Amino acid sequence: MKKQTAIWILLAVLVLKATVQTSAESPTGDVAAPSQLNVNPWSWDAIEKKVELPAMTNIVYFTFWLTNTSSEPATLLSTEAECDCTVVEARKNLPWRFDPGESGAINMRINTRGRSGQVMRVVVVHTSHGVQRLIAHINIPLTPAPSNVSVRQRDVEVARKDRQAVFKNGCASCHALPAAYLTGGALFDKACGICHLSKHRAEMVPELASVASGKDADYWRDWISYGKTGSLMPAFAKSEGGILDTNQIESLVEYLMQRYPADFTDKHPPARSSNRMIPVSIRSAETSSP
Ligand code: HEC
Ligand code: HEC
Repeated sequence: MKKQTAIWILLAVLVLKATVQTSAESPTGDVAAPSQLNVNPWSWDAIEKKVELPAMTNIVYFTFWLTNTSSEPATLLSTEAECDCTVVEARKNLPWRFDPGESGAINMRINTRGRSGQVMRVVVVHTSHGVQRLIAHINIPLTPAPSNVSVRQRDVEVARKDRQAVFKNGCASCHALPAAYLTGGALFDKACGICHLSKHRAEMVPELASVASGKDADYWRDWISYGKTGSLMPAFAKSEGGILDTNQIESLVEYLMQRYPADFTDKHPPARSSNRMIPVSIRSAETSSP
């Protein structure tokens, strides 16, 4: 309760500050008409988001969506993070002009290596119409897994009981969320590569390059959609409790037939498509409590 109140006061102060700054920066007759300055054109999907992570998680992604709800253009000018542990990227280069009704996203990648307990990261977004603070709350359990069972072994045990577990709870922060909204090669890297392209993958995860060359669309579509009961290969189709819609699955099928053609011999599969930050949505603080 106390914390809530503190946050509200903080926000109130910030809003005041933002208003003061805007009016101070705009002497009469400058840039935007005064009427616009009083109207905040931005609507955010949330300005605060929260996620619970398993112990020893190193990286977490957040995406904040914003929309220009006014009838005038508005511009996203710059972003500021408090430390190197937080990388902020807008989906377009800044300054980014939003036409009326236009939406876009800002991604935050937070390094939580070695952190535990409640971690909070703040990003300040400067716009043509004031300043917005975005807050990410991360909860990482204080007690790591018992030392005789590695996190990885524990994950595999969880997956043995339920191969769809990778899409749920803390597992989703690595196995599902990074794949959200992607298609084709980028989707393969995030959704499949995490298991199949990992240097440290377990023995039961096959090297696709050696089994999959020249396979047809049905082969890929079936494996992706249904996985295999009694194994660790999950079913990715939404209809089977997975995370991919038909479009995403078809984009993967097409990509994989090209990636592993019949004459595929390369011992070194093509380089991972990019290191670019991949956006994900994490449910906002308001909606995450059951
Ligand atoms: C911090 C990111 C992260 C989280 C969280 C995570 N995994 Fe993984 N998972 C990986 C990576 C990376 C691999 C590839 C193997 C490796 O490099 O250790 C992997 C591999 C796997 C594999 C393939 C077997 C293997 O070890 O190679 C299974 C099954 C699996 N994870 C299940 C789970 C389940 C179930 C959860 C939640 C209880 C989970 N993972 C949480 C990153 C994660
Ligand atoms: C949680 C780890 C994990 C993830 C994520 C994963 N796989 Fe698998 N996959 C496995 C395991 C384990 C097997 C072996 C199943 C078995 O026992 O036959 C497998 C088997 C396969 C096979 C069968 C290979 C053969 O034997 O012919 C294909 C194809 C495949 N996976 C494709 C994919 C694709 C495409 C994706 C992404 C949409 C994906 N996998 C994601 C773990 C994973």
